[in-house]
Amino acid sequence: MTLDSFKREMRDDLSFRGKLLRTGRHRIHPYPAMLHPLLVDHLISRYAVKDSTILDPFCGSGVTLLQSSLNGHASIGLDINPLALAIARAKTASYDADLLKREFRGIRDCIFDSHPDDSDVPAIRNIEYWYKPDVIRDLGRLRFILQHNRLTYSDFFIVVFALIARTQSLTKSGEFKRYRIKGKKLLLAKNEVFSAFLSHCHKMVEAFTNGAQPLANSRPLYANSEDHFPQHLEYGTVITSPPYGDSRTTVAYGQFSSFGSDWIKGLEQISLYVNVDAAGLGKRSPLIDLSSFSVLSEILARIAEASEKRAKDVRYFFNGYFKALKRIVAQLADNGTICFVVGNRTVKDISIPLDQITASFLQTLGVSIDSILVRNIHNKVMPAVNSPTNERGKTSRTMHSEYIVIGVKR
Ligand SMILES: C[S@@+](CC[C@H](N)C(=O)[O-])C[C@H]1O[C@@H](n2cnc3c(N)ncnc32)[C@H](O)[C@@H]1O
Repeated sequence: MTLDSFKREMRDDLSFRGKLLRTGRHRIHPYPAMLHPLLVDHLISRYAVKDSTILDPFCGSGVTLLQSSLNGHASIGLDINPLALAIARAKTASYDADLLKREFRGIRDCIFDSHPDDSDVPAIRNIEYWYKPDVIRDLGRLRFILQHNRLTYSDFFIVVFALIARTQSLTKSGEFKRYRIKGKKLLLAKNEVFSAFLSHCHKMVEAFTNGAQPLANSRPLYANSEDHFPQHLEYGTVITSPPYGDSRTTVAYGQFSSFGSDWIKGLEQISLYVNVDAAGLGKRSPLIDLSSFSVLSEILARIAEASEKRAKDVRYFFNGYFKALKRIVAQLADNGTICFVVGNRTVKDISIPLDQITASFLQTLGVSIDSILVRNIHNKVMPAVNSPTNERGKTSRTMHSEYIVIGVKR
C-alpha cells in the first residue's frame, strides 16, 4: 500500500471561514481540539443513519453530543476526562429556564452574603505557585457555596467554576500545558473570581435558555475506549475526533483540564479521578501485531531511525487506537456509518498520515471506506506551535487541515 492509497477530496465548503467555533452552549467552557459544530451538523445531515443513536467514543466537551441532540438524534459519549464529561453533561442537559435562573440568583445572593471564613480549599499541589492568596481564598469561598447548595443544575455551575479556576490561575492563557506567567503580567494579575464567575454564569444562563433546545437524550459516560469499552451499547452512527497522538507531544488534555479538575474534585458527580494523560491512547499496554499495515510500519521505521524512544511512543498510540477502533466497529450496527475527524501531525519531522492509517485500520475491521474529505481549519483551539520532537524550545506550527474519514460497516 502506498501513502496515498485512499483518495482525498478537498472541500472548501467545509472550512467554515468566519464562522465561530464556539457558539451557544459550546461557550460554557473551551476544550482543546474541539470539533466545529457546523462540521458535525454537516456530517449528521449527510451521513448519519436515519433515527440512529450517534456514538462519540472520544467525546471531549461533547460537541458531537449536543449537535446530535439539536438535530434530533440520541447520542452516547465516552471519555476518560472527568472535566470533559462534566462539560458535556452541562451542555446537553435539558433546563427549566425559571429554575436555572432561580438557582443562579440564589448563588449570587450567597456570594454577596458569604463570610470570608466559609471557604473550602482542596489539597492542590503547589497551590501558592499557581494562584495568588486572595484568589485561593475566593475560589475556596465559591467552592464552599457550591458544596452547600442543593442544586438541580450543579454541572452547569461546576463547569463555570472550573473555567474560572483556570482563568484566575497564573497559567498562560492560550497554552494547554502549564506555564506560569512572568514579570509585569504576574504583577498585574487581578482577583476577579466573583465578578468573572457571575458574568460568565449570566451569559450562559442566557445562552442556555434562549438558544435552540436539545431534542433528544445524550449520555456522556466515563469509559476508556481502548480497554474498557462498555458492552451492549447500541448505535448506528459514529462521529468522533480521536486524539492525534500521545498526550506528551500532542495535546495534554489532563494538564489543560487540571486547573478546573483540581477545584471541582469531590463536588457532586465529579468523583472519578484518573491521570487523564497517563490513561489515554498511547499508554503502555500489551502490544498487538500491526505489522501488516505497511504505511504504519514504514513510518515507524523512519521515526525509529531518528529516535527509538519516539517510535515506541507512536507504536503504543497506534496499539491503543487499533484496539479502540476494533471495539467501536464491532458494536456498530450493520450498514452503520462512521466519520473520524483526524489531523496528520509530525514526529521528528516525519508526517504521520493518520487519515490513511485510520482508513486502513477501519477497512481491515470490515468498514468500506467511502471518502476522505479535507478541510482547512482556521479556528480550531490548538496551540499555535507544538513540540513534535519533544525537545525544549524546538517548535513547529501545528496542522492546518483536518481529514474526515468516512466509511460504512459491511
Ligand atoms: C480530540 S479530543 C475530543 C474533542 C471533542 N471532539 C470536542 O469537541 O470537545 C480527544 C478526547 O479523547 C479523550 N481520550 C483519550 N484517550 C481516550 C481513551 N482511551 N478513551 C476515551 N477517551 C479518550 C481525551 O480525554 C479527549 O477528550
